[in-house]
Amino acid sequence: MTGAVHKSLVHESATKHVTGSASYTDDIRAPADVLHLQLGMSSHAHARIVNMDLSAVRAAPGVVCVLTAKDVPGRNDVSPWAGDDPLFADGLVQYIGQSLFAVAATSRQAARSAVDLAKIEYDDLPALITIDQAMAAESFLEAPNVLARGDARVALDTSPHTCSGRFYIGGQEHFYLEGQVAMALPGEDGAMTVFCSSQHPSEIQHTIAHVLHIPFAMVNVEVRRMGGGFGGKETHGNLPAAAVALAARVTGRAVKCRYDRDDDMMITGKRHDFRIDYEIGFDDRGKILGLVVDQAVRCGMSFDLSQAIADRAMLHADNCYVVPDILITSYRCRTHTQSATAFRGFGGPQGMLAMERMIDAIARSLNLDPLDVREANFYPAKDTPDRNQLGVTPYGMVVEDCIIQDLVGTLVASSDYRSRRAEIARWNSASPVLKRGISLSPVKFGISFTKTEFNQAGALVHIYTDGSIHLNHGGTEMGQGLFTKVAQVVADVFAVDPAVIAITPTHTAKVPNTSATAASSGSDLNGKAAQNAALTIRARLINHLSQRYGVSPADIRFRPDGVHVGLEVFSLAQVAASAYAARISLSSTGFYATPKIQWDRTIKQGRPFFYFAYGAAVSEVVIDTLTGEHRILRADILHDAGRSLNPALDLGQIEGGYVQGAGWLTTEELVYDQKGKLLTHAPSTYKIPTCGDRPQDMRIALYARGENIEETIHRSKAVGEPPLMLGHSVLLALIDAIAQANPDQGEPQLDAPATPERVLRALGGF
Ligand code: MTE
Ligand code: MOS
Repeated sequence: MTGAVHKSLVHESATKHVTGSASYTDDIRAPADVLHLQLGMSSHAHARIVNMDLSAVRAAPGVVCVLTAKDVPGRNDVSPWAGDDPLFADGLVQYIGQSLFAVAATSRQAARSAVDLAKIEYDDLPALITIDQAMAAESFLEAPNVLARGDARVALDTSPHTCSGRFYIGGQEHFYLEGQVAMALPGEDGAMTVFCSSQHPSEIQHTIAHVLHIPFAMVNVEVRRMGGGFGGKETHGNLPAAAVALAARVTGRAVKCRYDRDDDMMITGKRHDFRIDYEIGFDDRGKILGLVVDQAVRCGMSFDLSQAIADRAMLHADNCYVVPDILITSYRCRTHTQSATAFRGFGGPQGMLAMERMIDAIARSLNLDPLDVREANFYPAKDTPDRNQLGVTPYGMVVEDCIIQDLVGTLVASSDYRSRRAEIARWNSASPVLKRGISLSPVKFGISFTKTEFNQAGALVHIYTDGSIHLNHGGTEMGQGLFTKVAQVVADVFAVDPAVIAITPTHTAKVPNTSATAASSGSDLNGKAAQNAALTIRARLINHLSQRYGVSPADIRFRPDGVHVGLEVFSLAQVAASAYAARISLSSTGFYATPKIQWDRTIKQGRPFFYFAYGAAVSEVVIDTLTGEHRILRADILHDAGRSLNPALDLGQIEGGYVQGAGWLTTEELVYDQKGKLLTHAPSTYKIPTCGDRPQDMRIALYARGENIEETIHRSKAVGEPPLMLGHSVLLALIDAIAQANPDQGEPQLDAPATPERVLRALGGF
């Protein structure tokens, strides 16, 4: 194997992305008589529908069909598992933006205009919008979940010091640049082909089959690429895909739906917002002795993926730190808002941020550098002798691969953290209005789906008789570079240039029964599956050449200049043609299932993760104490991607993750009115980071000693989600700046996102 991996190759679509020639779902040429579908949405958060008069909608110009719950031949549900997300609300609405009916018309404008003619009478019911309201009403999706070790209450009672507090962590809109979109083409015998923008084509396939009441095998789903997903296209693409498939079935025509941005933000779920209540006990050095923490999680109107997300928040409540006695209680709040969903980090960021804030509170109460408190509590390093006793998470998994000490040590040196911290204190004492703050925050993120069965993948590789290679696998491309990485892996097996490998769209008929491309495990799973397929073909070729030329298999090598058979060299085309003539299959499936993992979510014990990914960031910020505005002056990041498959792509993931994390905690604010209407449903009011918000001085490096102790694909580590949590350092640096501005006011009360208003309030401004 030679060459193609561990190289900084450009993203397979980079040129197409920047020249505008990459084809997205909306760019696919539709049949001339395609219909355009628009959803009719609820304007009440919680109500019974007394009457729905759609006669004017049906009579509007261009309207070809109108669909409601009554028109669904199968199951009126688009949920991933719980059966609680109706395609069309049936008698009861549970959030503003919920789908009530659909119109298919000859143009987008005709469909949009027709929807407005609906006359709907609601009978309002009491609506719960916020976490506080849901907690007060004890409105939960399921009974509170508990994860405990030892006796945390006793530990708190006997700790020399304790501190406690409450804070809120806001939600986040995915703001993928390409919104939700799907197009359905009806086929023979009731078959349906759907093109869409989804991280989970198999779930789209299953959803459509259930809605139309047809076998899975009659539904084909294809995804070439997404213009971003970030978790928002794991489940929330099910609804538009099912709606167009139903309309295509009813009309016999192609039907397409593309959410308008405002509609997308009103309809689809977001990151879960959290309310954290904690009490933590510690000794004079800041060593943690006990912790009681409540995580109240706003799940919205249905389950969606909230169970697994809230679980992951519990599993990341420790972050990098040993907490001997711990009691975590997770409240899965049911509210009359969008069903909150997967978002980069999947609950991990919220769980970890709570711990990082507690560490800072401990440090400030003891007047220590927060870095010293962090270091005093790290899990034992991977070569520590008593690791198996001390390095055990609250859920019973030994942290075998801990490198955080070395990684943080390297970053402290390269970022000059210690002297900059002292310098910032000096600078602040001479600066009455502007105040600086700095923070180093570490990340430890568990890699694998906690639902063990999802940790499998399939691939399909063909070699044609001209030597060209066709690659397909179950993963989806959303900009993260998965297709490039998997092509590198396959190219490495045959020692060819990755550019010659034909990358093909994800398709449910090529690789069946796939998992979502999620949990950062896309390249871990699909890379291994594709490698398996390629190795199968290579073994057949070697066997064939060995027999044909009487050369030992050990003397047959795939090299960049061709296939070496003893002293002769052949092109891959010659080898493929020769194998074909000998009637040897040039096509293979491949499969992979992650080893070692096992997890029982009812008792919350086991080994949910194959390994951990680590990283750390130092952020320096400045706040204006008169306006509450801030800027990130400098960011230093060191991140562990194991032996990176592609350093250039990984650096891109790290930078993007950090900026997305910083945006979540600073400028991105979801504001609801009292009736439960999302007011910030467009970029005019919902502020994602822009280029100008990127730190002025940004220094990102991959951890040079990175190597996965587990046998992952070429010893790399997953990199999709973990860097988002590097953004925690920005919020912590802002809190540091506020504390330095107000040294006598105790622990700053700053909720996220740290908008200028909140920063001013935390400063005591108003
Ligand atoms: N990067 C880009 N450019 N666009 C995305 O939508 N999604 C993130 C991350 N990085 C995303 C991204 C999320 S939520 C996940 S889970 C991973 O990519 C999924 O891809 P992977 O498993 O191949 O890393
Ligand atoms: Mo990512 S939140 O696992 O799609």
